[in-house]
Amino acid sequence: MSLPVRSSAPDTTTDSGASTATSPSAASPASGPTPAELLDFVRRTAADSELISSLPLDPEGRTWIRLDGPAGSEAWLIGWPPGTGTGWHDHGGSHGAFATAAGALKEDSLAARLPTEGWKTLELAEGVDRERKLTAGEGRAFGRHHVHEVRNESGAEHAVSVHAYFPPLPLMRRYSRTGAVLRLEHVERPEEWQ
Ligand SMILES: [Fe+2]
Repeated sequence: MSLPVRSSAPDTTTDSGASTATSPSAASPASGPTPAELLDFVRRTAADSELISSLPLDPEGRTWIRLDGPAGSEAWLIGWPPGTGTGWHDHGGSHGAFATAAGALKEDSLAARLPTEGWKTLELAEGVDRERKLTAGEGRAFGRHHVHEVRNESGAEHAVSVHAYFPPLPLMRRYSRTGAVLRLEHVERPEEWQ
């Protein structure tokens, strides 16, 4: 079956050994909580109004608190000022879930399984874009190949959300997008966000 994407300019330097693990985590996705279990966790946590209100909010930028996720997962409570977002990224092979606790978040995602290694730019085929809006109480789970960006499009209201990943994020690949072209810009390691 062909991928619903067209690759260009493959980075041949990663062709050999592309299947060797880059994750420092020994946990395999099959050994821990499932996406559905993470979704249950983020929804329950998003309904904890005392916890949600404990997150400091800053109009100048996102704020976050690290949480204890279930069964060794990584979890975060995140505050999003109006107009802030993540940019396009993946989750380094971890699966996960997130739920909005306050305000609303817009998610743009790709209904395509991208090759994880061996390319710098991909031209996305028509029809792979998906978008959804998650208002307070709504969440979604995602698989280990999920690529998305999340934004608070409100002009006035903060959004707050709960996120969980398993295994704990080994890395995140950050992409830029121009029209149909997705370009790998940076591979972020945990040291950069802790
Ligand atoms: Fe994400």
